[in-house]
Amino acid sequence: PETHYHEFVVQETPVKRLCKTQNIITVNGQFPGPTIAARNGDSLAIKVTNRVRYNITIHWHGIRQMRTPWADGPEFVTQCPIMPDRTYTYRFKIENQEGTLWWHAHSRWLRATVYGALIIFPKSGSLYPFSAPKIDVPIILGEWWNRNILKVMKQALHTGAAPKVSNAYTVNGQPGDLYKCSAQDTTKISVNPGDTVMLRVINAALNQELFFSVANHKLTVVGSDATYNKPFTTDVIMVGPGQTTNVVLKADQPPAHYYMAARAYQSAQNATFDNTTTTAILHYKTASAATNPVLPRLPAFNDTATVTAFSSQLRSVRALVKVPTQIDENLFFTVGLGLINCNPGPRCQGHNNTRFAASMNNVSFVLPRTVSLMQAYYQNTPGIYTVDFPPSPPRKFDYTGNMSRALWQPGSGTKLYKLKFGSNVQIVLQDTAIVTTEDHPIHLHGYHFFVVGEGFGNFNPATDTSKFNLVDPPVRNTINVPDGGWAVIRFHADNPGVWLFHCHIDSHLTWGLAMAFIVENGEGPLQSVEPPPADLPKC
Ligand code: C2O
Repeated sequence: PETHYHEFVVQETPVKRLCKTQNIITVNGQFPGPTIAARNGDSLAIKVTNRVRYNITIHWHGIRQMRTPWADGPEFVTQCPIMPDRTYTYRFKIENQEGTLWWHAHSRWLRATVYGALIIFPKSGSLYPFSAPKIDVPIILGEWWNRNILKVMKQALHTGAAPKVSNAYTVNGQPGDLYKCSAQDTTKISVNPGDTVMLRVINAALNQELFFSVANHKLTVVGSDATYNKPFTTDVIMVGPGQTTNVVLKADQPPAHYYMAARAYQSAQNATFDNTTTTAILHYKTASAATNPVLPRLPAFNDTATVTAFSSQLRSVRALVKVPTQIDENLFFTVGLGLINCNPGPRCQGHNNTRFAASMNNVSFVLPRTVSLMQAYYQNTPGIYTVDFPPSPPRKFDYTGNMSRALWQPGSGTKLYKLKFGSNVQIVLQDTAIVTTEDHPIHLHGYHFFVVGEGFGNFNPATDTSKFNLVDPPVRNTINVPDGGWAVIRFHADNPGVWLFHCHIDSHLTWGLAMAFIVENGEGPLQSVEPPPADLPKC
């Protein structure tokens, strides 16, 4: 195993998109940021220097960070932010993970432009469980705004309206040639006939789930969220923010230009979203220059049936899938929107003196501001958080039925839930119809988990539990809780620390759709959090 060193300088960089130049925040002047590649078992040391006027942190999305929560990255959860002109070196080891992950800023909405791919190859001497592709490229889907992203965020935080939608979707930072002023720079992948191509599709968009398809080419899905799955073939995939999907295609079509395209999947009713399409080009080197690319047929924006058909095919391939069967902690979390009453003014612009909120079990999550949760926990600092996050909703109701908006308004708090080291945890994630039903990509830091069941309507333990897949459930770090439905995940709490659990749609996260787990130390150093690094930022 090797240790890879990287330098990340966070800086302002002028970038031209959609006919307009603006300063955005980048790493090393690159947008998207640098790709990190390593092998399973390697270690990484990434020195991050902040050269912008905002505080920032970097999160290594999906990396388990065994015993190194200090390197996880979410601001005020596992560290204080890196202040302007300060440096912090993230040090961690990749343990038993292979496939595609990514990294992104985890401060306010700065991940809009601060992200990149994190690719984990098999250990040297070991192989993929499928034949190795000739070409291997990240396809990072994102969103582009023509405005300062922190202004967009403020608007989302204070209003009763949905946040301003982005001005374009992007592939590897480029909108592609269906948008104005973008044709020149469209992402292009050149292939020879017969090549196999692995596309590591990452959804880095702030607020949008996306369909992705390649014209005239079947996609063989081989992995998601840095785990392998039993390969299956599809025309289209849906990737939620935070998720990754590895697909392999064969360049077996007549030499030509084919679009790879992504467009919104938007389940919530009356939601505003950008219904345009971002494209990249699969270019056969033997094609004549003049031919126009062919567009794939993408599903309608609200085509939940296609999403369900896709996700129900994911099956884990790991020979050693050990799904916990005895459950120590049986938790039930609602995930959904809500409205909070407020006094009219600039920070309260919704209908009837409200602003949007979001919650789990009626608690809208609030981050501390003076110390990180991990530091407060490690040092036993009182008054920063409480450990009374409710294991189930305060009252039962018809979660996905019609209900009045007045019925259920979340309270707010910094409430955590404590887990014993080694406990087996099950969480039922139940979407609600408060304001609207909606598909939520829920992400757990420090872990991946088994998705043992999914369905629509209200979860019913009497009839749904018997249908759980305890044999080959998919392993993920981010699960799309279906629109007006539920998903059940299980994990073994073998990684001590404080771990954020949240919706990866940033507007929902900002509104409070989050909580955090404390996983206590077990016995001895191999089951305990390592001491904090000397350069850990102070608030
Ligand atoms: Cu990729 Cu807490 O996020």
